[in-house]
Amino acid sequence: MRYQHLSAPIRIGGLSLSNRIVMPPLVIWASDQSGLVNETHLNHYRERKGPGLVIVEATAVSPEGRLKGSQLCLFNTAQAQGLERLAEVIRRNGSVPGIQLHHAGGKTRSEYLYGETPLVPSASRYPSGQSCRELSRPDISRIQEDFVRAARTAADIGYEYIELHGAHGYLGCQFLSPKTNARNDEYGGSLSNRQRFLLECYEAAAREVGSRALVTVRLGAAENNGLTLDEGIDTARRLSLLGAPLLHVSNGHDVPSEPPLPGSPYSSIMQLGISVRQQTGIPVIGVGGVTDPSDAESLIADGLVDLVAVGKGILADPEWAMKTLEGREDSIVSCIGCSPCRWFSDPGSCPAVKKRGAV
Ligand SMILES: Cc1cc2nc3c(=O)[nH]c(=O)nc-3n(C[C@H](O)[C@H](O)[C@H](O)COP(=O)(O)O)c2cc1C
Repeated sequence: MRYQHLSAPIRIGGLSLSNRIVMPPLVIWASDQSGLVNETHLNHYRERKGPGLVIVEATAVSPEGRLKGSQLCLFNTAQAQGLERLAEVIRRNGSVPGIQLHHAGGKTRSEYLYGETPLVPSASRYPSGQSCRELSRPDISRIQEDFVRAARTAADIGYEYIELHGAHGYLGCQFLSPKTNARNDEYGGSLSNRQRFLLECYEAAAREVGSRALVTVRLGAAENNGLTLDEGIDTARRLSLLGAPLLHVSNGHDVPSEPPLPGSPYSSIMQLGISVRQQTGIPVIGVGGVTDPSDAESLIADGLVDLVAVGKGILADPEWAMKTLEGREDSIVSCIGCSPCRWFSDPGSCPAVKKRGAV
């Protein structure tokens, strides 16, 4: 078989996956103020068959944590019921359902929050002219409880993989970075203080969920907000010491294309995942710029990462994983790497979607 490493099953931290392909979280902005799953979500995920693991898009754990007003949410019963149906759709497709739990912190605007105010680690580091409130200690505890409650609910409704968002400049990442965190309490200052919010969230969520699901973090292992790779490696090691059996390594802020680094088939984001894997030995989901199944195969065959996430490739062609696993890779309609990604702002304008004649 051509992609024997990519199609090999794997067991990590109690999670059994039928292959090494992951659909990473990819927001489609199809909800409304309710934050509910609707038919658009169900159809979108139903079409995307084949990955061993499908991670449902960034889902807000608190009303003020939304990145946009049309984001999926998980802080009430109706939202949980919709997400349960979505997990079932993913499971019926043969994939393991996962979900990303998210709080945007200061990376949102009050007009998306239906009257709520953005909450930030340090008001002094927030763009001037926009309203926000600096997180008090009770706010921090309440948001951590929101993550824990959402993780517990996600496990209750069938998600076997639960990832806390600690990358891309959102709240976990805002605490990690000295550029957005100027606090002088135990959540700011030294690296270990800046890690505290995310590590406490992880520890409490993982304890709450126990063996019912694998809890992990999408970690911005180095970010263009002042976080270095050494700091990312340190956070990765601490998460591992707390029991994280796997990390999803990423970075970046908006939605760039991820061209290969000069002299390498892999992007700089994928290289971060490879570095974390090599320097810590912790199993890693690598992501960034993979559109060719043979690159995904080499990443696994060479032991560079343990699972490969294919984002824009699976948006461009919902059958990317099935075509790969069935040896029909020649018929994949490939993402051509528009920068910025057109799918992100308007799926109908994505060249691959146009080519497939689907909107
Ligand atoms: C349309 C779109 C939506 C995205 N939504 C999310 C998201 O909800 N959460 C997240 O952590 N990353 C999100 N990302 C980033 C992807 O998960 C992925 O890391 C990135 O696209 C790089 O992988 P790729 O080159 O395979 O697409 C999004 C990217 C795109 C293009």
